[in-house]
Amino acid sequence: MAHSVGTQCRCVALPAARVLSIRPMRDSDADGLIALYAGLNIDDRYQRFFSGRPPPESFVRKMTNVTERGGFGLIAVIEGPDGTSRIVGEATYELLPDGDGELGITVAEDARGWLGPYLLDALVEAAADRGVPNLEAYVLVTNRRMLTMLRARGYAIVDHDEQPAVIRVTIGTTQRMPTWPGTHERPRLLVEVPGGRWHAEEAAREAGFQVLACPGPLLGWSHCPALHGEPCPLAAGADVIVDAIPDAAGRSLLDAHRSIHPSVPICIELRSGETDPDGAVAKISRGTSDSIVIGVLERLAKDAAVGGGPRRKDAWQSIDGLPDDSGAQGGSEGP
Ligand SMILES: CC(C)(COP(=O)(O)OP(=O)(O)OC[C@H]1O[C@@H](n2cnc3c(N)ncnc32)[C@H](O)[C@@H]1OP(=O)(O)O)[C@@H](O)C(=O)NCCC(=O)NCCS
Repeated sequence: MAHSVGTQCRCVALPAARVLSIRPMRDSDADGLIALYAGLNIDDRYQRFFSGRPPPESFVRKMTNVTERGGFGLIAVIEGPDGTSRIVGEATYELLPDGDGELGITVAEDARGWLGPYLLDALVEAAADRGVPNLEAYVLVTNRRMLTMLRARGYAIVDHDEQPAVIRVTIGTTQRMPTWPGTHERPRLLVEVPGGRWHAEEAAREAGFQVLACPGPLLGWSHCPALHGEPCPLAAGADVIVDAIPDAAGRSLLDAHRSIHPSVPICIELRSGETDPDGAVAKISRGTSDSIVIGVLERLAKDAAVGGGPRRKDAWQSIDGLPDDSGAQGGSEGP
């Protein structure tokens, strides 16, 4: 199949008769990449590789062969009028077992300002063209540039690590939201929560849920399809949604999901002192123990699986051990 994604060579004219080209990575790029990484400061190297040292040569040489493992890589080169050339950026993804890609990207300090987003867009386009639905990245929580770039492309949070403080995020390649990674073997819990971090996330994973967190519209993020009246692939593919976005924004999201994704059960989380007169929606209160919260979610998801048609029943076929009665009560505000 021909991959006509415009990445065979994208060229941009620069001042002083220089030209920036973006093209697929080759074996012969290893030395230029080694020079690129050697020229980074320690902080940048740490952000890219979680180590202040330049990566070993063997690592770089393996990286240039990424296509042999089903991934893809791009190189940004600046060529001068005197025939000199220098690699000023790279963006790659390695293919993951679930069919998504894991991305890494670097731009030389003196080439920053727009090249990162440009390279990322080219890589996203290449991944989409190759049938890779999402790209994941491990990002230090202090890496504001990378997070800003990914947030602009509508990320969801897959997981967190503490040492170092890293989030694993995923972006979609063909639409403005990612899709659920992998096959639907576990019940899927979508949490809409400011900042993308929810207190019962670990407990939910331990209970067998696949969890994705969406930082929601509170970050000034305009990508939320549901708030624009369109289906959200994460909400549509979820077995249960928790809306932990407070106040009016949370209510707007609740109304949007109930109208656009009516078969997906949703539960709102109320902050201390917050009330909600809507008796038709399940509620949990902030401060409720994680085990009770998980019981509520299991009950909601299980009820939907039983009554929600073949797709949802299929999703639960391999799930064992869900309690028949978790003590959940739709419409209750918790203990
Ligand atoms: C991450 C990286 C690839 C981004 O490329 P870049 O060319 O520097 O990107 P930009 O300068 O366009 O910055 C990206 C976004 O961050 C914003 N930004 C820049 N500095 C910022 C800061 N201190 N805080 C928050 N946002 C910031 C920019 O405004 C831009 O957002 P916009 O497109 O909405 O304007 C590049 O900085 C880099 O190589 N860093 C070191 C290696 C690394 O961190 N790799 C990623 C880990 S895999």
